[in-house]
Order: sequence, then structure tokens, then C-alpha cells
Amino acid sequence: MAFETITVETDDHVCLIKLNRPDALNALNTMLLGELCDALEEADANDKIRVIVVTGSEKAFAAGADIKEMSEKSFVEVFNENLFADASDRIMAIRKPIIAAVSGYALGGGCELAMACDFIIAADTAKFGQPEINLGVIAGMGGTQRLTRYVGKSKSMDMNLSGRFMTAEEAERAGLVSRVVPAKKLMEEAMGAAGKIAEKSLPTILAAKEAVNRSYETTLREGILFERRVFHSMFATEDQKEGMAAFLEKRQPQFRDK
Ligand code: CAA
Repeated sequence: MAFETITVETDDHVCLIKLNRPDALNALNTMLLGELCDALEEADANDKIRVIVVTGSEKAFAAGADIKEMSEKSFVEVFNENLFADASDRIMAIRKPIIAAVSGYALGGGCELAMACDFIIAADTAKFGQPEINLGVIAGMGGTQRLTRYVGKSKSMDMNLSGRFMTAEEAERAGLVSRVVPAKKLMEEAMGAAGKIAEKSLPTILAAKEAVNRSYETTLREGILFERRVFHSMFATEDQKEGMAAFLEKRQPQFRDK
């Protein structure tokens, strides 16, 4: 598929999606969100792909929803079109892991997009924030909900109410990002992480993502039960036999996604 606002590269098992509206610091307009969701769904449906990496430019992962595009909209317009609901729901429906590789600004919808991915690897130049309050609105793609789950109420309130930016270092301390690396090493680290995941068995990768995400949606008791049942079900796969046999035989497993 040909895209205007993103680029897509695939190697053996990893799909790299790069947001590409440099003049607007990758502001998320309707076209970019639509193309991003199309590319994510295409990668999710491609049997060869196991992991997706989403990144931006050195200066900006994404500086938020496109303010120019939405500034003149009325309540009825945004309500009727259900602004950002489609993109948000489509990203949540992706079953393969998505790593956000963040350099520079990840603000508003940009921070929310990074948080909608499965984990974030940040360059030491990354800046995260929910500055929507400065525009007379609040976050609209998960910033009050996901950020609170990532970093807790106090810091989420601080970010959503003050609109201040968090450095990569603060974001790592707070649990928003999983790793911080020097900016020059960002893509090497993100692609390396994706490559490591891609060595595993696909059904196991999908199950692990689904089980971790379940912890957001349910009680601890229900979540533990869900995990236990999925864990038990993995014993129906050939890859469980192969993984455990390989360990015992002191060799690398040859997973066949079965
Ligand atoms: N929407 C549209 N255009 C944007 C944009 C955005 N979110 N962010 C930056 N741009 C554009 C600027 O308008 C500018 O374009 P022009 O050259 O045509 O004027 C270009 O990108 C470069 O930006 P700056 O000149 O502002 O660059 P800077 O280095 O001085 O500042 C910045 C960088 C601090 C990120 C600043 O651009 C900024 O504050 N951007 C807006 C951040 C923001 O408020 N994000 C939240 C958006 S609302 C939202 O996301 C809702 C939601 O929850 C879904």
C-alpha cells in the first residue's frame, strides 16, 4: 500500500512504521492516523511479521493531534464523527506487539499514541507531556486514563493539569518508558528489542500480550485466572514441547508457530 504521511519498511519479521509529517512535527491528522491504522492492520495480518515498531523523527515522535485540523470544529462535529475513537479502537485491536521508539516530542496525542503501543523505548532527548490543557481541552486519546495507569495518580494529575513536559529520565523513573538510550542508539535498541521478541513463537507472543493487557481490564483475581488458563492452554502447542525440550537439550529452540 502507498502512504503519504508514513513510511513502512519490513525485514524478515519486523515491520517498522515511521511517522512522516516533518513540517508539522508529525502532528496526527486524519490522514496520518488512518494510514497508521491501515499499516498496523496490514502488519498484524501478515503471517511473516511478528513485531511492529512505530517511530517518528529525531525531533518529534509526534507533537499531538493536528491542532490546525481540529481548531474550528464544533462539539456536534467532533461528537458525530467520534473524533479519535476509530484510531484508538483500531490500535487497541492489534494483536502483535507494538514498540514505540520515541525521540524528541511525544505530546498530547503523540504521548497517547506511544502509550497505546505495548512499551516505549525512549531516546534521552524524549519529552513526554499532555499539554492539551493549554489549548482549552483535555486529553482525548487516553492521556487521562493510560498515563494514570502507567505513572499513578499524582504524576498523571500533575502532567494533565500543568501541561508540563517530562524528560526521558523522569519518564523512566516513573515507569512510563521501559528503557532510555542515547538518541543515536534509539533505532538500534528498538529494532534489537523487536528482533529478540521475533525469535519467540508467535502464538506465545500473542498470548503474552493479551494476558498483560488483561491486567488493565479486570480484577487481580480474574486476571490471574485468565493468565492461568492461557498458560495451561500453551501446553497444547508444539512450540511448548520444542521450547522445553530445547532447554533440556541445551540448544536453541526452533519454534514453528504451532
Ligand atoms: N498540530 C499542528 N501543527 C503542529 C503541532 C500540532 N499538534 N505541533 C507542531 N505543529 C507545527 C507548528 O504549527 C509549526 O508549523 P509552521 O511551521 O507551519 O508554523 C511546526 O509544527 C513546527 O512547530 P514549532 O514551530 O511550534 O516548533 P517548536 O520547536 O518551536 O516547538 C513544540 C515544538 C513545543 C512541540 C510546539 O510545536 C508545540 O507546543 N506543539 C503543540 C503541542 C500540543 O499542544 N499538543 C497537543 C495537541 S491536542 C491533542 O493531542 C488532543 C488529544 O489528546 C488527542
